[in-house]
Amino acid sequence: MSTVYLNGEYLPKERAVISVDDRGFLLADGLYEVTPAYRGRLFRLEQHMARLRRGLDALRIQYDTEGLGDVHLRLLADNGLQDEDVSIVYLQITRGVAPRTHHFPPAGTVPTVYAFSNAFRRPDPARWARGYAAITVPDRRWARADIKSIGLLPNVLSQQAAVDAGVADSLLVKDGVAIEGSHNNVFGVFGGVVTTHPATHEILHGIGRAFVMELARGLGMSVEERAIPLEEMREADEIFFTGTTTEVRPTVELDGRPVGDGTVGPVAKALYEAFKAGVAEEVAR
Ligand code: PDD
Repeated sequence: MSTVYLNGEYLPKERAVISVDDRGFLLADGLYEVTPAYRGRLFRLEQHMARLRRGLDALRIQYDTEGLGDVHLRLLADNGLQDEDVSIVYLQITRGVAPRTHHFPPAGTVPTVYAFSNAFRRPDPARWARGYAAITVPDRRWARADIKSIGLLPNVLSQQAAVDAGVADSLLVKDGVAIEGSHNNVFGVFGGVVTTHPATHEILHGIGRAFVMELARGLGMSVEERAIPLEEMREADEIFFTGTTTEVRPTVELDGRPVGDGTVGPVAKALYEAFKAGVAEEVAR
């Protein structure tokens, strides 16, 4: 049975209940974070919490994130995840419980804080090595995709389109530009240059994205942040997605057509190896 955190308490998931008046439930008025842990040690928690604070500020939800690191560690411990190769902690903060109004609830309404943790299985290496397929989907999200809102309907519908098509990823396209995935960032490789959309309001500023850019530079690769037109992306030598639950996932087929030579390329391979080694090394420090 898994132990979850809800509003200051650690309790069995079955006993964790929230009010039907919670603004997260009624209005998707809240934020979330997903932080990875490698053998029970959190990776870049500070960056995840900094992103969360930026979101809280943008939504004007007052909540002190100070104690959240301990919540993350306790959930990993209580769920016996210290020895798991990879696990995740999901954290959600909503504007709290109040009679439904569109405007903010009365001052003093206490945010609802919920978190759970579970193991995450890396794909079998042979499966990863064959690469994955993706489809393009129109990006129908709001104009602040940099805020990790729990309002994920466009992401849900995009990823379901991928599942319906029998592929791993959906590539969101806005005004002819390849933006990011439904739950991950996207990179294209062009003549050796590792390229991804700039960190604007149009994408989630992925912690994995930043780490992969660091790794690429460390391996001596050129990295460029610029908008990539979809038609150019289709001609990329390689495409891969990055993120907490994606790590580095190579796309060998986009909308039924091969990417590059249709096999996993050397850049994705090198970055995935560097990613796995890099997280292990960083959490061991
Ligand atoms: N998704 N873009 C979107 C739209 C995302 O939802 C995510 C994360 C990312 C990658 O961010 P990071 O590298 O910090 O995980 C990019 C999480 C994992 C989720 O929704 O479950």
